[in-house]
Amino acid sequence: QYNFTDSNNMVIKCKAAVAWEPRKPLSIEDVEVAPPKVHEVRIKIVATGVCHTDLEYLYGAGKAMKFRPFPLVLGHEAAGIVESVGPEVTKFSPGDKVIPLFLPQCGECERCRSPKTNQCRKNWANTQVGVLADGTSRISCKGQQVYQFLGVSSFSQYTVVPDTSLAKIRSDAPLDKVCLLGCGVSTGYGAAINTGKVEKDSSCAVFGLGAVGLAAIMGCKVAGATRIIGVDINTAKFEKAKEFGASECVNPNQCSRPIQEVLVDMTGGGVDYALECVGSPGVMSAALESTIDAWGTCVIAGWTETEAMSVVVEKILMGRTLKGTYFGGWKSVEGVPKLVDDYMNKKLKLDEFITNILPLDQINVAFADMTSGNSIRTVISLSTEETSG
Ligand SMILES: NC(=O)c1ccc[n+]([C@@H]2O[C@H](COP(=O)([O-])OP(=O)(O)OC[C@H]3O[C@@H](n4cnc5c(N)ncnc54)[C@H](O)[C@@H]3O)[C@@H](O)[C@H]2O)c1
Ligand SMILES: [Zn+2]
Ligand SMILES: [Zn+2]
Repeated sequence: QYNFTDSNNMVIKCKAAVAWEPRKPLSIEDVEVAPPKVHEVRIKIVATGVCHTDLEYLYGAGKAMKFRPFPLVLGHEAAGIVESVGPEVTKFSPGDKVIPLFLPQCGECERCRSPKTNQCRKNWANTQVGVLADGTSRISCKGQQVYQFLGVSSFSQYTVVPDTSLAKIRSDAPLDKVCLLGCGVSTGYGAAINTGKVEKDSSCAVFGLGAVGLAAIMGCKVAGATRIIGVDINTAKFEKAKEFGASECVNPNQCSRPIQEVLVDMTGGGVDYALECVGSPGVMSAALESTIDAWGTCVIAGWTETEAMSVVVEKILMGRTLKGTYFGGWKSVEGVPKLVDDYMNKKLKLDEFITNILPLDQINVAFADMTSGNSIRTVISLSTEETSG
């Protein structure tokens, strides 16, 4: 444990899971985390979820995902406590409970001032190549700079983030649960509510029943959809999907016709909303084609950076809408604390997503469980303090 009373200028030595190269398991290392610079905050990560995007960047680096520099500390779905703040930080103090954000909200740029988008571009170029505003990372290992993932790097007991990439949350929030609001749950839930704008009494199809898909089902249910069809190639996911509000589930591998045709028939013309939560171009096309021609909306939440999906022009021409969602459309700094409130007020489920809890040194098991379909979300606990259990 590292309990410094005044550690502002000290380097913190702690444990982190380092990705030394693509397609290799993570390695637990002693790392050094430098003090926060101007407009930066150093946080102690208490808990982090393991998201499909972490898996994809490690094992799909240079394929479906653009290549990011290694060595790298992955992890972007976390909650923690402010340890120290750099110069000119006004909104955070040591001890604050926080959720780091892979999508910033600076509050000042043109995009932040527009209600049309959550796509703040503060520090964007640097974040995409794994460094902070000054062009360097705050994490090092064996004398070497270790890049930060999406500006966060939560597979480390401590990390440093820009003060515009951090949401302050209420002090009674259990960090080992609300960490899921740092990515997966907020994304799927917002994909339905904010991006799809799912309407009451509508019909929906959700493709992929991982954490993002289950959260999308939760969003469709809250919006008042009457028919919510879960689609997954792993039938083991169906029971949980029904707990979250799916009215029925279909396995495309058990159908004799393409899944879009099955869904169009099931709904007498197509669903009002389809949400793609897999990240596969083929599934994206199927999702679009499963919506009703006149007004169907297809929302892409699945993440792939280098691949293209095919769209038959006529599918759009007749009146369908194709949309994408990043972080569920939430303006991150103001949206996340509200989602924490919704969880605390029992309007939003989080506990039900967590199927596995592991210590940091077993993080590779979390990747294996995600690949095999043995988990919805694994939460990695990095600290024994401040959890709800
Ligand atoms: N847009 C964003 O901001 C954002 C944020 C987080 C995650 N994501 C992306 O969302 C996707 C889902 O993430 P997750 O963490 O829930 O992943 P996950 O691996 O937990 O779940 C994916 C699910 O899709 C199912 N699946 C695989 N192939 C399928 C197919 N052909 N048809 C139907 N189902 C299929 C799997 O069985 C699994 O249940 C990923 O692509 C991830 O990168 C996007
Ligand atoms: Zn994620
Ligand atoms: Zn901004």
